[in-house]
Amino acid sequence: MSALLDISRLSLSFRTEKGPARVLDMIDLAVKPGEIVGLVGESGCGKTTLARAILGTLPDGLTEIGSGHIRLDGVDMLRGGRAAENIRGRVVTFVPQDPFASFNPLFRVGTQIADLMRYKAPRPDGRSWRGHARADEEAAIAMLDAVQLPQPSAILAKYPHELSGGQRQRVMIAMALLPQPQLIIADEPTTALDVTVQAQILGLLRRLAVERGVSVLFTTHDLGAAWEICDRVVVMYAGQTAEVAPREAFFAQPRHPYTRMLLDSLPEPGRDPVGIPGGVPSPLTPPGGCRFNPRCPRATDICREMRPALTEHEGGHLVACHHPVTARAEALHV
Ligand SMILES: Nc1ncnc2c1ncn2[C@@H]1O[C@H](COP(=O)(O)OP(=O)(O)OP(=O)(O)O)[C@@H](O)[C@H]1O
Ligand SMILES: [Mg+2]
Repeated sequence: MSALLDISRLSLSFRTEKGPARVLDMIDLAVKPGEIVGLVGESGCGKTTLARAILGTLPDGLTEIGSGHIRLDGVDMLRGGRAAENIRGRVVTFVPQDPFASFNPLFRVGTQIADLMRYKAPRPDGRSWRGHARADEEAAIAMLDAVQLPQPSAILAKYPHELSGGQRQRVMIAMALLPQPQLIIADEPTTALDVTVQAQILGLLRRLAVERGVSVLFTTHDLGAAWEICDRVVVMYAGQTAEVAPREAFFAQPRHPYTRMLLDSLPEPGRDPVGIPGGVPSPLTPPGGCRFNPRCPRATDICREMRPALTEHEGGHLVACHHPVTARAEALHV
């Protein structure tokens, strides 16, 4: 199946006072129609930057595209001009990390949803929005009902601060679905919520996406969240793709030492979690070769000298590592 979202060899730098910060370095990532893909990695590895590159919301003038492309539904999102503009907010929509920051505090929820529908929701009969206010309101109420908000009409009349964090995030999911997109980008959509609400919201997002055949690219540093909702997991490290694997293989048979260390850092009965020493390198001065080499117990000279290519090991399982792990129980140190 061909990809809905196809990111290939994408490199991107921010201009900073200290010089160019190469935050994305030859990233590869694909999302197929109807697929839910988790993009995981530690803080600072470039998840939000990649999401913003797809959405076209990176700061103008400060961002330099070095190479590569982002294609969404066949449209070049980096150089596509009007065609790319038309896709944003329609074919691809967004669920942010902090829904409160994304609402305008001065307007009622209903007004903000109506504005969104006026500009972005499909109107196949071509009639003006005004003639359709009632139909739009009905669609909004049906969608708030679908995200399991009780008394949807009452929600429309409220201001954002009158809703709980979980309710605001449900409204955000409804707003992301209303334009009938093909892809939703959800950037750490539940990090700001408490754990029980997180699980409910993730379950809801997955169910609604599957029911409607919508793809989701979901960024998180929480592997438990990836387990809950993803079909496939992409591991990013310091702006590079480290590993791509179907969900089961990712958890049962991680190949990249970084992935293995991420999994070993989770608490598990009968085993002490092992942290990953050191931190993500600065994009101003990334190490040569594999960017993970200074923290990797398997690193040898070749890892410092040559960047490993992303290569397929078995069906759909790709790894960028000179010394991949072959078994879950194998010792990392060689
Ligand atoms: N506008 C900017 N100018 C310069 N550097 C930036 C800018 N935005 C982000 N960065 C840098 O890019 C790198 C990646 O940041 P990004 O926010 O994409 O990471 P992330 O994986 O989303 O992290 P988190 O899990 O904390 O959200 C960081 O080193 C960050 O400091
Ligand atoms: Mg982020």
